[in-house]
Amino acid sequence: MYRNILTGLALQILFSNFTKCNGDNYETFLTAPDINYKYYNVGVLMASHLDSPFDLERCGPAVDLALEEVNDRFLSQHRIKLRKVQASYPSCSGARAPGLAADMHFRDDVIAFVGPACMFALEPVARLAAYWNTPIITGMGDQVAMTDDLMNDPIIRYVDSQLKSYSDECNYILRKNLEYGLKKLGLLTFVRELDGNDDEDHDNYLRDASMYARVLILSVRGALVRKFMLSAHDLGMTKGDWTFLDVEIFKGSYWGDHDWETGDKYDSKARKAYEALLRVSLLQPTSDKFQDFSDKVKERAQLDYNYTISDGEEVNFVIGAFYDGVYLLGMALNETIVEGEDIRDGLAITRRMWNRDFHGITGHVRIDDNGDRDADYSILDLDPITGKFEVVAHYYGLHKKYSTVQGQKIHWPGGREDPPPDVPKCGFMGNHPDCKDNENYYHNIKTALLIIMLTKQNHML
Ligand SMILES: *[C@@H]1O[C@H](CO)[C@@H](O)[C@H](O)[C@H]1NC(C)=O
Ligand SMILES: *[C@@H]1O[C@H](CO)[C@@H](O)[C@H](O)[C@H]1NC(C)=O
Repeated sequence: MYRNILTGLALQILFSNFTKCNGDNYETFLTAPDINYKYYNVGVLMASHLDSPFDLERCGPAVDLALEEVNDRFLSQHRIKLRKVQASYPSCSGARAPGLAADMHFRDDVIAFVGPACMFALEPVARLAAYWNTPIITGMGDQVAMTDDLMNDPIIRYVDSQLKSYSDECNYILRKNLEYGLKKLGLLTFVRELDGNDDEDHDNYLRDASMYARVLILSVRGALVRKFMLSAHDLGMTKGDWTFLDVEIFKGSYWGDHDWETGDKYDSKARKAYEALLRVSLLQPTSDKFQDFSDKVKERAQLDYNYTISDGEEVNFVIGAFYDGVYLLGMALNETIVEGEDIRDGLAITRRMWNRDFHGITGHVRIDDNGDRDADYSILDLDPITGKFEVVAHYYGLHKKYSTVQGQKIHWPGGREDPPPDVPKCGFMGNHPDCKDNENYYHNIKTALLIIMLTKQNHML
């Protein structure tokens, strides 16, 4: 079942930190042209200084490194160079990005877009790009978002018809993606949305949920996870009959502190309660190659973007995914040229990026036949002895495989050896008439039941 949940976690993380801004920024990088080369422009389009994991200041250096590599490895033999045109905008908004994309298209005749990473900006740009037949690379779940595909996506259509304002777009997208993925797998039965108010009655949500589900996904900021777990503990829901999942895509200040320990008087209760919590994170690459890449990204951020990525912050997976995306574009461009096709045919280029795997900076990358990237995740469980979350299993998107880490196991609370059953023996209300007569009755029910709890406002991240 956990494997299935992970399959449903289409990774689209978006951020809604709406700082007021100093406006858009548009730059072209014209090096003295080498007459032996033919130049093509690539438009890099990202939000700036949002303190999100996808800021231009974080992802830009990775894109630069990738463009250099692509020029060197794939294009110099064809006497071609890609040149960056860069624009940034101060919020994750659908209003500015398409205008900037239009400038890039008409003024600089770009052959590809890198970004936006934020779905609200991506969606309108994707429509335009589809019309222009220009490919888009993003470091998000839709690694290679070619636009017809995007348009057919029910999520996008949903967003389109439902959204009145752009203000809470980003949380909205993560939620909708999770919901959509889980529904598609037939796993989701119950969703409750919070309005982000700290004074809410968490007990009520939990009581409500307990009538429908045994696995609860908490997609909320760290402080709220703790509130929920403390409530759950008081309600007796942390003894092994329920499992809670905490989605912390990667470590970083943007998600809030997800630790049980905060130094208040509830620490020991929280620690006990967190035994019923499993955490899902993206698998952070650990190879030497990635470490090397991390160092370079930090160096470039400082040098070229006047931005300090602190020592404590890891260069996150999405930054690596941007690098891999641009690298993949390079592979596709090379093949297009070698086979004598049109370097401006976005659809043809995009098709070459689909359904393939290669060794990227983040490891073995696989893009499926929808242009989505299968990511790898870690499952973390609280070790009751040490009080620390340890990685107990991985989920590999490439093979859709769940695999436990050797020597590790999930410590189910209440001395259980196994996860709680999807449906309790006597039904969610404990009153099923068949309960006493036929113990196997429920074992024939195949559906897993889930709840997602999320916040409506901008607090989550
Ligand atoms: C670099 O950033 C600092 C603030 O972090 C600012 O004071 C300084 O003017 C910036 N330098 C340049 C060259 O933009
Ligand atoms: C470029 O594409 C051709 C045709 O697919 C391939 O044979 C060649 O190895 C590629 N070049 C590089 C550097 O990968």
